[in-house]
Amino acid sequence: MTTDPITSHLKETRRFEPSAEFAAQARVSSEVYAKMYTESVNDPESFWRRETSELVFRTPWTKTLSWTLPHAKWFEGATLNITESCLDRHLTTARRNKAAIIWEGELSGNTRTMTYAELHREVVLFADALKRHGVEKGDRVAIYMGMVPEVAVAMLACARIGAPHTVVFGGFAADALRDRIADCAAKVVITQDGGYRRGGVLRLKDVVDQALNQPQSASVQKCFVYRHLGEEVCPVAMKSGRDVWWHESVDPTATRRDPLTIVESEHPLFILYTSGSTGKPKGVLHTTAGYLAGVHVTSKYVFDLREEDLYWCTADVGWVTGHSYIVYGPLSNGATCFMYEGAPNYPDWGRFWRMIEKHRISILYTAPTAIRAFMRQGDEIVQKSDLSSLRLLGTVGEPINPEAWVWYHKLVGGGRCPIVDTWWQTETGSIMMTTLPGASASKPGSTGLPMFGVVPDVVTKDGKSVGANEGGFLVLRKPWPSMLRTVWGDDERFRRTYFSDVPDCYFTGDGARRDEDGYFWVVGRIDDVLNVAGHRIGTAEIESALVSHPAVAEAAAVGRPDDLKGQALVVFVTLRPGHTADSSLSAKLGDHVGKEIGKFAKPDAIRFTDGLPKTRSGKIMRRLLKDVAAGRESTGDTSTLEDLNVLAKLRSNEE
Ligand code: WTA
Repeated sequence: MTTDPITSHLKETRRFEPSAEFAAQARVSSEVYAKMYTESVNDPESFWRRETSELVFRTPWTKTLSWTLPHAKWFEGATLNITESCLDRHLTTARRNKAAIIWEGELSGNTRTMTYAELHREVVLFADALKRHGVEKGDRVAIYMGMVPEVAVAMLACARIGAPHTVVFGGFAADALRDRIADCAAKVVITQDGGYRRGGVLRLKDVVDQALNQPQSASVQKCFVYRHLGEEVCPVAMKSGRDVWWHESVDPTATRRDPLTIVESEHPLFILYTSGSTGKPKGVLHTTAGYLAGVHVTSKYVFDLREEDLYWCTADVGWVTGHSYIVYGPLSNGATCFMYEGAPNYPDWGRFWRMIEKHRISILYTAPTAIRAFMRQGDEIVQKSDLSSLRLLGTVGEPINPEAWVWYHKLVGGGRCPIVDTWWQTETGSIMMTTLPGASASKPGSTGLPMFGVVPDVVTKDGKSVGANEGGFLVLRKPWPSMLRTVWGDDERFRRTYFSDVPDCYFTGDGARRDEDGYFWVVGRIDDVLNVAGHRIGTAEIESALVSHPAVAEAAAVGRPDDLKGQALVVFVTLRPGHTADSSLSAKLGDHVGKEIGKFAKPDAIRFTDGLPKTRSGKIMRRLLKDVAAGRESTGDTSTLEDLNVLAKLRSNEE
């Protein structure tokens, strides 16, 4: 962890009260919020029992929490299958034939609707297929798919048989997929032939082949392939003995042998890899009952979900937002989720707004980076569509700058929709802080107040709370049901990363301040993790990808403030002898990172240098590089710098 001073220069004083109309019908008023919050912290037993009473537990829990830092066990004694809460429980109600998923394809604009009854049937059939192909409770299954309803079917089918899934975002390259498969020793991979992205075809199965043809992927015995595009558009090679077509694997009569597997509350539900401060991604492990409780309660209250809503979370299912707020949270509430296959700007920047008008979407949950990109395209594009169906907006993934907030509020929300700014992480599983709609005023750029059961604080390095409006480390003081349980296969890393920097609490890796009203303002990451266009990228991952190229001797990756992406990725590179620093090498290195990790991780700028600024003990001084990348004078201490010349040279090389 670096010790950069955490400063917040944002002085935003505007407040937006919820409209009287929204507040009048909101589930949670400010008084109710205060009451529920106090109860959730002081009497979690009563709070969680009541708030999970509509979920399906085969046996109720006997102990709400066992906590021996850093290990939490929630709801011990409970047995359940999460898919019964997401699917089966709706089948005996009016929701049976309600749409669970309404999907729109990118290229054709075709739509598909899957009702709860249909989704349930697909899940049971595919779970049976997995089982017949040898997947047992506890086996890990990697899912590498695009945004099609079947990705939700695949996840739920794994959960139905107690096989933890690990969804790998379809933008990751073969080597990144291979590393994730290897880390959790996945037995099976589920993929699709390909998907559309910006009018082009993303050949997903080909990437899986490249990953599986390497010795590190030897754990994989079967690969299921969903046919989405078909032979003509996207022919694929099927390896005999290993590859199975999804549609051929399914036996339509299998509903009579539902492989539903009841598990313990702490049974692993999924592993999701995320960037940390070393080159190796962390397999964040979430378990069943606590995760379900967290996503169920937050989906219901934060999005104020109603029976008639059409809810759209624009995230990809490959990130935690897709897990919690496309699949498990909304479905456990019986909501109808809209799902879109492709890019926001295909065939043009009006696509999102036309879909909102066409489907009468009522809740939109998206990322600040997307909002800023839309904002750049001008107001007319948004104004062309009728967005009067919207009633609630949300953001996630990075701090939203107040201009973008106000634009979103005015142009997209017509000034009438509350905006929930939701702060949370892959590790937290569900939303930890937000501006609850109807309960509290919004302040553009602030992520509001804690959710139920969450006790955030802003502290100094030794864990002491700082005063109002002072910057510090953002920590969570108490365990919460949907918290990660460990880092897969590396419990020591789990302890070190989250529970060693600040004593006795969970350290988020973010810097923040709390204002005089108790509202939190997240400044951004203070560890070596960047947030580029809403993607979480570890600087060490980029560096290790770069040094794996034969031309590179050393590399240092840092973030630079960027109007559109929040942060842009700048890398400083020193070369091995015999290589020339020119634009062709720069392009090659960019492609290399794209190939090793994924195109989304390509550096925005590559700067060649003869040396990197280092401390006398040889540590790269990123703080100085950040200043150079941002074109700032370094104000910090340079007294430990080995060679001041290096810094002067770096500055004189500026692009
Ligand atoms: C950042 C995404 C400010 C933060 C759900 C966090 C935010 C990291 C917000 C987690 C927000 C997320 N305001 N910053 N509303 N939401 N972040 O794991 O730095 O992909 O630590 O989870 O995103 O990113 P992750």
